[in-house]
Amino acid sequence: MTERIYNFSAGPAVLPLAVLEKAQSEMLSLDGIGMSVMEISHRSRHFEAILESAKNGIKELLNVPDNYRILFLQGGASLQFSVVPLNFLGKDEAADYIVTGTWGVKAVKEAQRCGKVNTIFSTADSGFKSVPTPDALAFSADAEYVHYTSNETIEGVEFKYDLDGKGIPVVCDASSNIFSKPIDIEKHALIYAGAQKNIGPAGVTLVIIRDDLIAQVPENQHSMLDYRAIAKNDSMLNTPNTWGIYIINLVCEHLKTHGGLGAMEKKNEEKARILYDALDSSDGFYRGHADQSARSLMNVTFRLPTEELEKQFASEATENDLDGLKGHRSVGGIRASIYNAFPKEGVAALVEFMRDFAQKNG
Ligand SMILES: Cc1ncc(COP(=O)(O)O)c(C=O)c1O
Repeated sequence: MTERIYNFSAGPAVLPLAVLEKAQSEMLSLDGIGMSVMEISHRSRHFEAILESAKNGIKELLNVPDNYRILFLQGGASLQFSVVPLNFLGKDEAADYIVTGTWGVKAVKEAQRCGKVNTIFSTADSGFKSVPTPDALAFSADAEYVHYTSNETIEGVEFKYDLDGKGIPVVCDASSNIFSKPIDIEKHALIYAGAQKNIGPAGVTLVIIRDDLIAQVPENQHSMLDYRAIAKNDSMLNTPNTWGIYIINLVCEHLKTHGGLGAMEKKNEEKARILYDALDSSDGFYRGHADQSARSLMNVTFRLPTEELEKQFASEATENDLDGLKGHRSVGGIRASIYNAFPKEGVAALVEFMRDFAQKNG
């Protein structure tokens, strides 16, 4: 096998090696049918079985109740910033948005094209370092739904609880922490997530939507933006991303045989603790971005004393086979993304590199 390095990329991100190997072994001929999964019809019984299995895998892992539909869409999580309000926010209506980072800002921008957005909580002024406590939130009486981002990938800020909408439908962008821990699906009316962090490859967006929300989709909606039509056609209104769904199915099987999301959460907590401990014990050489209470288990963001040193850190790390550590271009700094498939050994290697770097440059 070609040597693999430690990949800290925020997404597309590291996938389980066993999944890549299985896909490799089936690349030319799927399950003895003599064709690649990329070559078979999405209407074939072979692909239908894969789709069904992927849905069942997600249902089992996330404990999705029967009154929710599992959809595989395209256009990324970014398209959902628009599809959600296009379906549930009329021009004379209002929705509540909680903004704890860059992706939340983008979601608001698209929703404002459709109707009134009440930003009921934002940490923009304090640099996106925290999330609200539940009692800091007051929902608007006229809100059609409340939207939040459970993990802000760029800033590394994560909700530690599932939002309770107190009767208002809760919509969650869970792109970067879905599958990292068990969540209470029933607190949510709609969850969406780009696949390219914990679920699979880029090009598929997972949507989990409650039946009563589907019933609210306006008549005469554009077909490809119509959750009802997509659900009715089992995500096959047009040609779905067959390859992506196939990999998602393999990821689900892998997670199920490795203890499910409870086991993932334990591993993720352990990996994150090792890294945050390294920041906290560096005598201020490394400064974590997020407040302690909102530190993401998936994206560990931190600064060094100067931007020069940050550049040097990222490039020397790459030379040491620790790749993808440069922070997002919009905020700078360093970001170590340690999704489910990222190994603990890689975290240990980074911590060792960090100690060494601080010693030489501190
Ligand atoms: C939290 C969050 N929301 C939305 C997006 C946008 O996803 P996509 O590139 O699939 O549109 C990302 C991408 O990294 C993200 O991390």
